[in-house]
Amino acid sequence: MRIINEVNILPSVDKITVSDLVRKKEDNTKISVVTCYDYSTAILAEKAGIDMLLVGDSGGMVSLGYDNTIPVTMREMLMMARAVSRGASKPFLVGDMPFMSFNVSKEQAIKNAGKFVKDAGMDAVKIEGGSKFQDTIRAITDAGIPVMGHIGLTPQTAPLWSGYKMQGTSSASGRDLIEDAKALRDAGAFSVVLEMVTDQVAELISTNIDIPTIGIGSGPSCDGQVLVMHDILGLYDKFLPRFAKRYANLGAEILSALRKYQTEVVDGTFPSKPHTSKMDSREFRKLTSLLKKEGLIAK
Ligand code: KIV
Repeated sequence: MRIINEVNILPSVDKITVSDLVRKKEDNTKISVVTCYDYSTAILAEKAGIDMLLVGDSGGMVSLGYDNTIPVTMREMLMMARAVSRGASKPFLVGDMPFMSFNVSKEQAIKNAGKFVKDAGMDAVKIEGGSKFQDTIRAITDAGIPVMGHIGLTPQTAPLWSGYKMQGTSSASGRDLIEDAKALRDAGAFSVVLEMVTDQVAELISTNIDIPTIGIGSGPSCDGQVLVMHDILGLYDKFLPRFAKRYANLGAEILSALRKYQTEVVDGTFPSKPHTSKMDSREFRKLTSLLKKEGLIAK
């Protein structure tokens, strides 16, 4: 009996781990990552064979409707993370620590990272920012939680400072980015997102640090790529970054389906016979005579 319990609590043998991701870098096998915010798309992403699902704070924008990633809360992030972990068991799951959930103190950061793992089924957390967060990353990894770094464009602070601009465009900023990547690696980060970093700087980082780089708008040399699910599917129309590729236009399909539904409800075409269940006719006659007797209906 004890043995059966032990077997049952082990994760599935297929589950992707940090070691699998590091091995992919060593083997030159690219890592596929997509952001994910709910149960139904988590199931689909797993079926598609995606290696890693990032419950990104971009969900605050594309799912919750905020203007940027600053307002999204821990509570909202955890709700999305729980939904994703209920839908996907094989991909490596990363929860994005929202703005101000790790910036106050190392204690605050460890506590909130713990919530992603203990309460929401994530395998790791992601923290935006470079070498300034070295101590925070070390503290979280020392607590046993894998951390993914995120450098280059950092959307949690970009709107407050310089806006959404390409990073690593000068030799000085390229040098800073390489230093940042090394600092994160030295702090124990298992991987690092490079957002909107010039191709050459992304290549220098990817070839000179031994943890997987996951690029978004940073060219093909990164060890893996991540895109926002809604950009891939054509579900978010406010803007599409130049680096993103739209693989489907589900927004247009959804709109057409909803328009058809609206028309059919109004003209009475829906629901039709296949979508309707009838009571047995004898039972129905019994019901109407009962209701008439009790004065509950007139005809
Ligand atoms: O939240 C997010 O979608 C991200 C990606 C841009 C990496 O952090």
